[in-house]
Amino acid sequence: MSAPLTLPDFPWDTLRPYADLARRHPDGIVDVSVGTPVDPTPEVLRRALAEASDAPGYPTTVGTVALREAVCGWFARRRAVPGLRPDGVIPTIGSKELVAWLPTMLGLGSGDLVGIPTIAYPTYDVGARLARATPVVVDVDDLPTGPGEIPALLWVNSPSNPTGAVLGVAALRAVVEWARSHGVIVASDECYAELDWRPEVLRDGLVATPSILHPQVCGGSHEGLLAVYSLSKQSSLAGYRAAFVAGDESLIGQLLEVRKHAGMMVPGPVQAVLAAALSDDSHVAEQRERYRRRREVLRPALAQAGLRVDHSEAGLYLWATVAGELDGAEASCWDTTRWLAERGILVAPGSFYGDAGRRHVRMALTASDERIAHAAERLR
Ligand SMILES: Cc1ncc(COP(=O)(O)O)c(C=O)c1O
Repeated sequence: MSAPLTLPDFPWDTLRPYADLARRHPDGIVDVSVGTPVDPTPEVLRRALAEASDAPGYPTTVGTVALREAVCGWFARRRAVPGLRPDGVIPTIGSKELVAWLPTMLGLGSGDLVGIPTIAYPTYDVGARLARATPVVVDVDDLPTGPGEIPALLWVNSPSNPTGAVLGVAALRAVVEWARSHGVIVASDECYAELDWRPEVLRDGLVATPSILHPQVCGGSHEGLLAVYSLSKQSSLAGYRAAFVAGDESLIGQLLEVRKHAGMMVPGPVQAVLAAALSDDSHVAEQRERYRRRREVLRPALAQAGLRVDHSEAGLYLWATVAGELDGAEASCWDTTRWLAERGILVAPGSFYGDAGRRHVRMALTASDERIAHAAERLR
């Protein structure tokens, strides 16, 4: 029999006492602990769903041509990635599914390493374990070269959940060059790319978070590279499970083969919504403005309360820590979580994302304007 499956504890249960504390606030809780969208799904997408609701037959696993062409068009238009072809794209049932099963679908297993970021979305680790492979932290500023240290698959996540740090073209290019010289597959989770807050991005109205598939990053070849993307956040579609993976056509073909057998197909009406969402930039711009406004309210209020926001150049989160030291020691994320819960604000402790996150808390911009205003008021 193979080794038993060991999954990490589900850490959110440990947050319950803090949620109870925050709920006791007389003006109610401001829950910014989870990044679940709260704004209505845009009308244009609800219409697309209604129009596609007559769906008696099975959808295809590979996805409609219209959907795959919409992905290629979006990459060319929004990410400056030309030359992607429909054969290099498949839809996924949200991207968490793909993250959790990618190592398995690539045939990795016992004895293989899967590289994950130092501070990371927990599902990269889970996906390695589901395949019975071994998750290892890989610092992209210090890529491993020694025998026994090279992963079969490396995850990068830019903009990062939870830190909001962005990997620029040079950093990503170094990752690709290293990966190619060691035969490593790179999966790049880019789902916050359209939520980039750096001034040059806002000025140009363009997305500056580079994709792993950008020609300056990969030299125009997608070999060994996969970009993972989700519309949950930018289109308020988390409930639809609308996402896709794109890149190396031979890897995509391998995933498609497994997915066809495993029944991992995106419902037909959701495929129609994905195509509509990727062809309409205006609802994304509106949603980005909502998040930008909330960020501009919360960020200075955190500074006034003595918290320092690190990274957070892009994405849906503020990554905050108590500035300086408390009683000669740096504050732990749990102290900060309690301090905020006493003010009715529920956050995610940074330790949920790895030990290196233990000094920070993560605050999601996914609360209503009214709740964010309350949080800012309490922080001041
Ligand atoms: C970095 C990252 N990847 C993947 C996901 C999963 O998104 P979904 O399954 O909604 O597409 C999330 C969700 O928060 C995330 O933060």
